[in-house]
Amino acid sequence: MAGRSCLRKFFVLPLLLLIFLSFYLLYYERSSQALINEWIQDYVKLHHREKPAHMLTYPAFKHPLAPPYPYPYKFLINQPDKCKNRKPFLVLMVLVESHDLESRQTIRETWGNDSLYDVDVVTVFLVGLPQFAPVLIQVLLEEESLVYGDIIQQDFMDTYYNLTLKTLMGIEWVTKFCSNTSYIMKIDNDMFLNVDYVVHKILDPEVPLRENFFTGDIRFNTPPFRDRTVKWYVPKEIYPNDTYPPYCTGPGYVFSIDVAKKIYDVAQTIRVIPMEDVFMGICLYELHIKITIPEPWTFNTNKFFYDACGFRLFATVHHFSNYELRSIWKDFVDKKSQC
Ligand SMILES: *[C@@H]1O[C@H](CO)[C@@H](O)[C@H](O)[C@H]1NC(C)=O
Ligand SMILES: *[C@@H]1O[C@H](CO)[C@@H](O)[C@H](O)[C@H]1NC(C)=O
Ligand SMILES: *[C@@H]1O[C@H](CO)[C@@H](O)[C@H](O)[C@H]1NC(C)=O
Ligand SMILES: *[C@@H]1O[C@H](CO)[C@@H](O)[C@H](O)[C@H]1NC(C)=O
Repeated sequence: MAGRSCLRKFFVLPLLLLIFLSFYLLYYERSSQALINEWIQDYVKLHHREKPAHMLTYPAFKHPLAPPYPYPYKFLINQPDKCKNRKPFLVLMVLVESHDLESRQTIRETWGNDSLYDVDVVTVFLVGLPQFAPVLIQVLLEEESLVYGDIIQQDFMDTYYNLTLKTLMGIEWVTKFCSNTSYIMKIDNDMFLNVDYVVHKILDPEVPLRENFFTGDIRFNTPPFRDRTVKWYVPKEIYPNDTYPPYCTGPGYVFSIDVAKKIYDVAQTIRVIPMEDVFMGICLYELHIKITIPEPWTFNTNKFFYDACGFRLFATVHHFSNYELRSIWKDFVDKKSQC
């Protein structure tokens, strides 16, 4: 008897597995086929586009890796009065994940402390919809926004491949709610930022407001990564050309307010790609705006050992953790006059 039931088990389990597998494969194939059909239809629609962009059915181009845009995202958390009756010189748009309160707090206590500077600086944090524990994180974000009044959020998923949406949200915010600013800097949360250098050495409040100004760590002729295992993978359907136009790498770049308005407008009419920094380069290419080449060693993508006087000569240094930033900042501010 024991032998027979063993035998039955021996047959039944693989049989169940087989049935499950065939259903799974059937379902998978169906759904991926439907997805592919949908992309093809969108692709065709995009290429036979006659309607002006503002009359398109949203979004213009669909692909799992293409950020859905243009799309009428809503501001869930906004600071509409932050720039009211003032004329900021520089807006710092800090890209940070919605759950990363620690980073925001570190930045508020270091380079993001607006009251440290001799010109009007406005720091805002850009977030999307939290991916993890969304209900809880949303409650915390709203609380944090009430306390600090520096959070801006739209209703797109806060993921790496959606970073372009985040930068575009910042640009939309600046053009709609802070258009009195002279310049804008997009900056990541893992950076050392020397605001005084950016204000006085790069921008200079004594010089009349520049137009068509965009600068940062510039890259020429970079090819897209076509290997799907790489973080920066961009498929041909999303970006067909073999090289990107010149662009400034994402961790930190600076531009004038007129450029923000122009980028926002042109972004409504072209295909958005997931690399936010490259996408800014594509917009500049479409707008025929030339990137200003900075002095060497201004925007540093490599990490350096901290040195109070050395760091005074940089605008940005990449790869600073919250802990490192907090531990060097006091020294950096204290030794200001000693170099
Ligand atoms: C922008 O600045 C001008 C002049 O400085 C001022 O009159 C105007 O109220 C400001 N706009 C906003 C939205 O604060
Ligand atoms: C910002 O700097 C001012 C002036 O040094 C200081 O009083 C304030 O506590 C700082 N704010 C934060 C959040 O550290
Ligand atoms: C980007 O955000 C949109 C809107 O929330 C979402 O539908 C999409 O899945 C996100 N894309 C990625 C790659 O995370
Ligand atoms: C991509 O290549 C086409 C054909 O050579 C060219 O017309 C277009 O301007 C290029 N786009 C970019 C963003 O380089």
